[in-house]
Amino acid sequence: MSQNPIGLFDSGIGGTSIWKEVVKLLPYENTIYLADSKNAPYGEKSTDEIVALSIKNTEFLISKGCKLIIVACNTATTNSIDYLRTNYPIPFIGIEPAIKPAALFSKTGAIGILATKGTLTSKLFEKTANEYTKTITTIKQDGAGLVPLIEAGKLNSVEVKALLEKYLKPMLQFDIDHLVLGCTHYPYLIPQIKKIVGESVKIIDSGEAVAKQTKAILEKHELSTILSNSGKHSFYINTNKTVLEEILKDVSINFIVAELNF
Ligand code: DGL
Repeated sequence: MSQNPIGLFDSGIGGTSIWKEVVKLLPYENTIYLADSKNAPYGEKSTDEIVALSIKNTEFLISKGCKLIIVACNTATTNSIDYLRTNYPIPFIGIEPAIKPAALFSKTGAIGILATKGTLTSKLFEKTANEYTKTITTIKQDGAGLVPLIEAGKLNSVEVKALLEKYLKPMLQFDIDHLVLGCTHYPYLIPQIKKIVGESVKIIDSGEAVAKQTKAILEKHELSTILSNSGKHSFYINTNKTVLEEILKDVSINFIVAELNF
């Protein structure tokens, strides 16, 4: 079992920001990544729809022998991780907006959270926010429209710039000093976000923390690979693969990308 791959899924290409951190920390592990781009954005769907899509993705990854699954999507995690953990026998790693460190280290007492509607309205998000943000001001913003633009490869477009200005400028009026990126697609917008919020606002995403948690859980379950040659990596996408390949172009390790109907 320990030689089996780690599975990851997302509503599309955004979870590759998590995959990059995972392979950096765990270079000998094999991975399989599912980009369910055909069904993006998940953030506008109901909880039932998100759970059904998460089941579909999980069953595909389990059929490929995955020993652990990273739900590389905040929206899928906050809506379906309890269901997945209860119904499947393998460990799951989820991703939630990193509210805790932002709240703990904020000096101005104000933080911004940019996430999808599906994440911001989930019970899990509400629980975490209640736990850590009682004494600080949180400005929550639904990033509607950003995921489809990223999926279309329009990272540097005027449309993305206009949406980011609309969503982030009001946060600056509250003197936020941390901005939590609560969607795995958003790290690809960090250069544009920085131009709007400036250097004094610390941008927090969850990639590194998720990689460390994956390592810890593999060790706990004695599932870490015993091989010491580079892992094999496969990506499956159910739309055209061009944008996914573009987003992976800075990756120096070997991988394959295949279009597949799932
Ligand atoms: N990458 C997903 C997330 O982290 C995007 C959600 C969506 O498809 O709307 O939430």
